[in-house]
Amino acid sequence: MTQPKQQFAQTILENMHSAVLVINQDLCIEYMNPSAEMMFQISRARAKMRSIEELIIDEPGFFKRIKTSLQTQHPFSAFEDDLMVRTGQSLAVDYMASPIDYVDCRQCLLLEFVGRGRHRKMAQEKHLLNQNEASRSLLRGLAHEIKNPLGGIRGAAQLLEKKFSNEQDREFTQVIIREADRLKQLVDRMLGPGDIPNKSQLNIHQILEHVRNLVQVEAEHVHFVADYDPSLPDIYGDESMIIQAILNITRNAIKEVPEDGEITFRTRPLRNYTIGDNTYPLIAKIDIIDNGPGIPEDIRENLFLPMVTGHAEGTGLGLSIAQTLINQHNGLIEFTSSPGYTIFTLLLPLHTESE
Ligand SMILES: Nc1ncnc2c1ncn2[C@@H]1O[C@H](COP(=O)(O)OP(=O)(O)OP(=O)(O)O)[C@@H](O)[C@H]1O
Ligand SMILES: [Mg+2]
Repeated sequence: MTQPKQQFAQTILENMHSAVLVINQDLCIEYMNPSAEMMFQISRARAKMRSIEELIIDEPGFFKRIKTSLQTQHPFSAFEDDLMVRTGQSLAVDYMASPIDYVDCRQCLLLEFVGRGRHRKMAQEKHLLNQNEASRSLLRGLAHEIKNPLGGIRGAAQLLEKKFSNEQDREFTQVIIREADRLKQLVDRMLGPGDIPNKSQLNIHQILEHVRNLVQVEAEHVHFVADYDPSLPDIYGDESMIIQAILNITRNAIKEVPEDGEITFRTRPLRNYTIGDNTYPLIAKIDIIDNGPGIPEDIRENLFLPMVTGHAEGTGLGLSIAQTLINQHNGLIEFTSSPGYTIFTLLLPLHTESE
């Protein structure tokens, strides 16, 4: 009877969003759940029986409190604390420590961490999705209003052209037709891809290598680094759409990097990750990192809106299109940027079967 109960408890623990750790009297890790693996960027196999001092560094106050709690058996909690983890990242967390009797009645400490940053990020991600949806519906309305009269103008110019016998007069109608076509093309690009994704199982690393081969020819000065996690399963998506999205982001990075520029393609799995209103058990995280000057401050807020560009010759459509393509796969593109270090992150849910 106890076996199913234990399994049930285990399932709950493994699926919790809070990071859960159990440490013993020597501060060594006895257990960690998948959210803790994600938070501390270490697999439980590697973390097992290592000291928590290897995961969280330079935090004497934190260690003093957990040692006291282990000795006195008193629980404690801390809110809005910043902890430095071994990757050098600072984590904004709330955490609770509760003394427990663990396997074989040993006195251990149960530590629960909730990332405050994650909640803020979830709100930002939802904002990105809503922003893209709002701009798309505005564009659809506008495109309809532009394309209808544009068709009329083009048709009338063609009729007029037939009436002109003189070559010079025809040049004027040709200008009208050419410009009407150009405007229609622009509106179509702004509308973005209208096709329904044609999905199949795809190896994301093959796609990244394909993009790298494509762009390396255009940008010989750029050094490409591949940092792939080979354990990442196939994604289920439309190959040409995903290539297009990665290409748009990579081409932007190429434009920005210096002479000896470096672009890194990095892949990692993420577990139990929420995008918008849905939580997915497994997500492919694809980072495209460059060492360019960073995204201009004044366009960051609306970067994924159409026509937002930092270049006089840019149309500002590349990122808007990429975002739409990835949204069509229930995924999301986000970014962080500072001088010398810009990351665009594609988050793609991994589906094992067709939707
Ligand atoms: N990796 C990056 N580093 C710095 N700035 C970037 C980076 N990626 C994008 N940007 C900025 O974001 C702007 C918008 O990019 P987006 O791809 O949407 O449009 P664009 O490149 O200007 O035009 P196009 O429609 O031809 O792609 C760019 O003009 C550039 O200023
Ligand atoms: Mg671009």
